[in-house]
Amino acid sequence: MQIRCNINHKEYNLEVEATSRVLDVIRELGITSPKEGCGEGECGACSIFFNGKLVNSCLLLAGQIQNAKILTLEGLYEETKIVRENFETTGAIQCGFCTSGFVLRSYDYVKESGVKDEQSVKDALDGNLCRCTGYQKIVDAVIKSMA
Ligand code: FES
Ligand code: FES
Repeated sequence: MQIRCNINHKEYNLEVEATSRVLDVIRELGITSPKEGCGEGECGACSIFFNGKLVNSCLLLAGQIQNAKILTLEGLYEETKIVRENFETTGAIQCGFCTSGFVLRSYDYVKESGVKDEQSVKDALDGNLCRCTGYQKIVDAVIKSMA
């Protein structure tokens, strides 16, 4: 099927299978910040904004993004600057595989929430998994981003 959509501020006309995963469609365009972790909606590594809402792109089908506006970390590079810098300076990045998803989740939380107690941040990050950091430095980075 033919779909039209806007990805990272650029218009695309794409020929896709309706049942292709948006994660694959995006990565085949060379936009590689969304990663495949679990492939089952459990880890958040594939996070993207879909019409303003953060979703797991491994669970989104190409047929669902007709006329949609998609943003990945590449398209939000300036907007996420504070969060990204705090991830770097607090040591919240190790292998980096989960980082794009965590940065988008944290950016969404920081911009939407005025609550910066540790438990609220942990709850907000609940859908994202990281094998390396033990999470505390990620939580510290988010709290620092709300200062
Ligand atoms: Fe999509 Fe894990 S790869 S949630
Ligand atoms: Fe390696 Fe999170 S930094 S999975």
